[in-house]
Amino acid sequence: MSIWPRFSGTSAAHKFARLTCVVFAVAAVLPAAAHAQTDADTIRKGHELAISLCAECHLNPGQGEKQGALGIPGFSAVANRPLQTYDGVVSWLASIPPMMPNHNLSQDEMHALAAYIMSLRK
Ligand code: HEC
Repeated sequence: MSIWPRFSGTSAAHKFARLTCVVFAVAAVLPAAAHAQTDADTIRKGHELAISLCAECHLNPGQGEKQGALGIPGFSAVANRPLQTYDGVVSWLASIPPMMPNHNLSQDEMHALAAYIMSLRK
């Protein structure tokens, strides 16, 4: 005799168990998908935000990696660092770095900015 409960294919308990699995699987995948929004609309939104909020510091012509301790890196230099990631840029913005003005960015805005910055990666 087995110690495991036996469910017939049509028992309510079995159906419930299967449904629970599906719900967990979807819940696990959704946040990851929401993070990686790098479609053209999101990038465009990030670009607009960058022009209005960040350009004076980060989008100057020919601006490369930051020079000296108080320097400011251009966004393409930030995007092209070998270990740079989308999540890395979001984390930087979420940390409200003291060397930058606090723009009170929403989660959506942080993700749009990260999508735009990472679109500059070659
Ligand atoms: C007043 C100037 C200023 C503005 C405006 C500004 N930043 Fe910055 N930002 C800095 C400085 C300074 C650093 C370099 C900090 C350091 O490395 O110590 C920096 C660094 C960064 C970095 C790189 C972090 C790293 O890994 O080195 C990112 C990404 C960034 N800023 C994003 C943004 C975004 C997005 C905006 C607009 C919402 C913005 N910044 C607005 C001054 C500014």
